[in-house]
Amino acid sequence: MSDERHLVLVGPMGSGKSTVGERCARRLERPLVDTDEIVEAQSASTIAEIFRDLGERGFRELERRAVADACASPTPAVIACGGGAVLDESNREELRDRGFVVWLDTPAEVAAERVGEGSGRPLLDGAAPGERLAVLAEARARAYRDAAHAVVETAGRSIEAVADAVMDAFAARRETRA
Ligand code: S3P
Repeated sequence: MSDERHLVLVGPMGSGKSTVGERCARRLERPLVDTDEIVEAQSASTIAEIFRDLGERGFRELERRAVADACASPTPAVIACGGGAVLDESNREELRDRGFVVWLDTPAEVAAERVGEGSGRPLLDGAAPGERLAVLAEARARAYRDAAHAVVETAGRSIEAVADAVMDAFAARRETRA
């Protein structure tokens, strides 16, 4: 059975969206679309430059357009979203509407280990990543929950095991489709 929905990965910085997304894209033989990459391509600037020049608000506007463009793609894709994309209600609606959304739920300390110090991510600049990620996790938990059709816990699991769990959730969804 063919399923035209996108497979969408959401979760905090350091949850493995890009690497897990790559694995899933390969297995599904779909393109991997990364909203951060769309933002950078459309504005011909890096994420860090956008935050510096336009602030987080300006970045979120560009991100909204990138999410809409990714969702509008007629080719079913795997979409890896920037960690804060779910904060915007219209993004959540669009992603849920056009895709099957999986939240890579990742404790802050695990995410911090993965991103490390000096990752170049503007929201982690000048702060201990673990502390900052813990604050963001608390503030964003509701948005992730509202966005997600399925939750996959990533702590203590390899990238391959997380990709397996995502694929299982996606397949289960496809099987229960009328
Ligand atoms: C952000 C996450 C980043 C990027 C930007 C803001 C966030 O993407 O979109 O720095 O608000 O959590 P990754 O989750 O891919 O690192």
